[in-house]
Amino acid sequence: MNILFVGDVFGSAGRHIVHEHLPHVVESNEVDLLIINGENAAGGFGITPSIAEEFFDMGAHVITTGNHIWDKKEIFEYMNVPVGSHGRGRRILRPANYAQGTPGFGVYQGALPTGQDYAVINLQGRVFMSSCDDPFRKADELLKQITAKVILLDFHAEATSEKVAIGWHLDGRVTAVLGTHTHIPTADERILPKGTAHQTDVGMSGPYDSVIGVEAELALKRFLTGMPGKFEPAKGNPKMCATLVGCDGGTGRAHSIKRFMLGE
Ligand SMILES: [Fe+2]
Ligand SMILES: [Fe+2]
Repeated sequence: MNILFVGDVFGSAGRHIVHEHLPHVVESNEVDLLIINGENAAGGFGITPSIAEEFFDMGAHVITTGNHIWDKKEIFEYMNVPVGSHGRGRRILRPANYAQGTPGFGVYQGALPTGQDYAVINLQGRVFMSSCDDPFRKADELLKQITAKVILLDFHAEATSEKVAIGWHLDGRVTAVLGTHTHIPTADERILPKGTAHQTDVGMSGPYDSVIGVEAELALKRFLTGMPGKFEPAKGNPKMCATLVGCDGGTGRAHSIKRFMLGE
């Protein structure tokens, strides 16, 4: 089976480029399972219920997020659904290693119309990020409860070392470990020895004439002066970054990984 993962969609430029490229990428690669990281989809900061609906309408099975999940408070209620639900609000994830009691869930297990079971896990790193529980042990704990063989982890983290390390930690136990958050795609996609597809960062789906999505002038001003200022999403040079993982639906082991960066 084929899994397509779309990296952090940033603002309206990101949403438009995904809209433009996603249908033909899904069709030409016979994608069975589609996952989109939407943490920056609403003006660069967070995601709203209507944007989540837009992604589900585009065919996303699961939306993952990260540290920007709480930026738009309308999403809290949307995610506040019972554990047994398979509705859309249940299929937008926040990192599973956030404090107990925060809205939503960090893992979703479902089945495709073919009957193929799958699970998606969202975790956040701890190096150069705000504090959260240990993502390595949280992954171990979640894997004990998951019965699906096809399992994808969106590891939302800053440090390359931590992202590479969790790939080795989970090699042979999940189908894919794909990194998000740094917004720059890495050229290290590979299949680890025990069959887990790994890439340190899938890259942003958004405007690359920017500083990781933000208008370059505004980001530069902050670097040059240290003064606070409002960040605005950029528009120029949009690209869709996504990674395609081919795997055996029976064993969950990956056999191929390919990255895409598609522009105008
Ligand atoms: Fe992001
Ligand atoms: Fe992030």
